Amino acid sequence: MSHYPKIIAHRGMSALAPENTMAAFASCIDYGVKCFEFDVDIIGDGSLICIHDDKLDRTTNGKGGYYNLDFSAIRKLDAGKWFDEKYTFERIPELASVIELMNKSQLDANLEIKPCLGGTVLREKLIERIAVALQQLDPKRGLVISSFDAELLLMAGKAMPERRFAGLAPIEPDVPVMEQVQVWLETAEKFKETGATIEALHVENDGLTAQAVAALHEAGYQVRVWTVNDLERAAELAKWGVDAIFTDNAHLFPEADRAVSAF
Ligand code: G3P
Ligand code: MG
Repeated sequence: MSHYPKIIAHRGMSALAPENTMAAFASCIDYGVKCFEFDVDIIGDGSLICIHDDKLDRTTNGKGGYYNLDFSAIRKLDAGKWFDEKYTFERIPELASVIELMNKSQLDANLEIKPCLGGTVLREKLIERIAVALQQLDPKRGLVISSFDAELLLMAGKAMPERRFAGLAPIEPDVPVMEQVQVWLETAEKFKETGATIEALHVENDGLTAQAVAALHEAGYQVRVWTVNDLERAAELAKWGVDAIFTDNAHLFPEADRAVSAF
């Protein structure tokens, strides 16, 4: 029995390579990490891109938002140099490239749908295009879809009832955590109206308690916690029965833990 929960590389191997790039995802292969998490949004021409922020500034040499851009503008951007010179020319990937990598390298993943701010038409297109893109995923690959955006998650559930889903749960510091657990459980229950089910809650690390983990398990959900970069904290969460953690430091965990799929 491991000291640690299952390991998911958060935004890829994001301590070693620029987050949400093919370099960060492919680095999972080099370190024997089976699972990664990545963020997906849509741009003006309907292309699906992997990026965390709704602005280009932090992780590329571009500026401002991307909802009005087409992929020819996105592919010109450098998404690696900000992290390290050696990643100069790394690009913002399209979802299709990530799916191809998963199939080729037998990696499993959590696709997080960003709370798209591009308006109703782009939001609808985001879900439709994800559903179409995922038709290319090898059915043997483990894939769980999550989102902070409750409306987008419901739309995804309706569009892809056969897929696996997780609720994303930030913890408000000023509200008792057990009250928040009740709201997550009600939201997860309501999600069943889509015809799909939520299998897990992806919960924030700060403010989480053993009692909250027990209540989620009691209700039948797995508990996966983000973002846990400290190995001692990971070991404590394992004692509480936490199923998996999202970490920027997947490479620091024992090889045997990295090789196990959380999905
Ligand atoms: O999906 C887990 C975690 O990635 C959620 O937070 O802001 O890193 O996307 P964020
Ligand atoms: Mg994320």
